[in-house]
Amino acid sequence: MLEPHNSVLGDALRSYGGNTPVVIIDRTVDSHHGAKIRDYFRSQEIAPHYLVRDLDESKKGLTAVEELAAALDALPIRRRTDPLVAIGGGVLLDVVGFLASIYRRGMPYIRIPTTLVGLIDAGIGVKTGVNAGRHKNRLGTYWAPDRAFLPPEFLPTLDTRHIRNGVAEIIKLAIVRDRELFALLEGTITENGCAGFVSHPQLESVCVAAVSGMLEELAPNLWEHDLRRPVDFGHTFSPALELGAEDMLHGESVACDMALCAAFSYNRELLSWEEFERIVRTLRQSGLPTVHQYFTEPVIASSLAEAIRHRNGMQHIPVPHSIGQAVFIEDSTVTEWIAARDLCLKEESNR
Ligand SMILES: NC(=O)c1ccc[n+]([C@@H]2O[C@H](COP(=O)([O-])OP(=O)(O)OC[C@H]3O[C@@H](n4cnc5c(N)ncnc54)[C@H](O)[C@@H]3O)[C@@H](O)[C@H]2O)c1
Ligand SMILES: [Zn+2]
Repeated sequence: MLEPHNSVLGDALRSYGGNTPVVIIDRTVDSHHGAKIRDYFRSQEIAPHYLVRDLDESKKGLTAVEELAAALDALPIRRRTDPLVAIGGGVLLDVVGFLASIYRRGMPYIRIPTTLVGLIDAGIGVKTGVNAGRHKNRLGTYWAPDRAFLPPEFLPTLDTRHIRNGVAEIIKLAIVRDRELFALLEGTITENGCAGFVSHPQLESVCVAAVSGMLEELAPNLWEHDLRRPVDFGHTFSPALELGAEDMLHGESVACDMALCAAFSYNRELLSWEEFERIVRTLRQSGLPTVHQYFTEPVIASSLAEAIRHRNGMQHIPVPHSIGQAVFIEDSTVTEWIAARDLCLKEESNR
């Protein structure tokens, strides 16, 4: 995308009729790729304003949005012809997307994800948001970017832990809708904790399958009128873990939730023992955790209650019904989830 002869991004920006977009870049991305980004815009004769920001999950709040709004106030930009261009991981994309949706009641923006989570998840769809109180993405909007570019060229500088974080979301998608993708992931691409993921010959096939699968899931239900979302697999008990337990990334928390749901499915005879083992093995091979001591009975009970509020009075918990297919559970009890957790603990101790 950033090769000087590739005018796709330049053409997209020229189509607005201005020449001074606001490029908002994650600081780490800027340190690795900033020179190439600037060279690219120079070669395209575009003269952006650059805002480089150091954002992470702990800074993903309204303060970050207000600070960026003040920075926009100080620039001589035009409201329709100078779009925002977000270049960074899911945190930066969510913050800039939220800003774009409310600054002057809406500005055009373009998303360029630089992490694997961004590429296959946060860079797709129309959700924006920031954390508030003890809640993830509690304040947010549905605001479509005009364009999203999904270039894999930023991935080589991402550390392996953040690669795994994205792999967890790909595994999620494979389990609920794509048996073939799961089989690809079971192979060498996730070996040794995903150490060779980015340079693996199957990288493109895996990313293309994940992105198209995600698009097919999101497109018919962009505004989430239907709260039965297969892509919510792994996202029922994980929010509590992500915000409450020490040092847990989103994908790591999702991995523990997926193993819990797989154990639940096995206990309900929705999944064979062999398939349960395949799921747990693939998570482990990828370097992801499959159980966490933070999943105590009170945490499981409050997560279930919070999920019911979030899903408007219903459980709507997607769980695997064989690999490649999900069903929604509406009548689960805390006791069943504790039994599922105990199965994960037993499985872990038998390794
Ligand atoms: N809007 C959505 O639909 C959606 C979907 C999924 C996730 N999300 C959000 O995404 C966020 C998680 O995103 P994330 O996992 O990308 O985390 P992140 O944005 O915090 O990025 C992870 C780390 O990688 C660094 N980084 C980014 N690109 C890099 C690169 N190419 N090379 C080296 N370092 C790089 C960042 O500086 C950061 O330290 C969460 O807040 C989640 O809520 C949103
Ligand atoms: Zn997720």
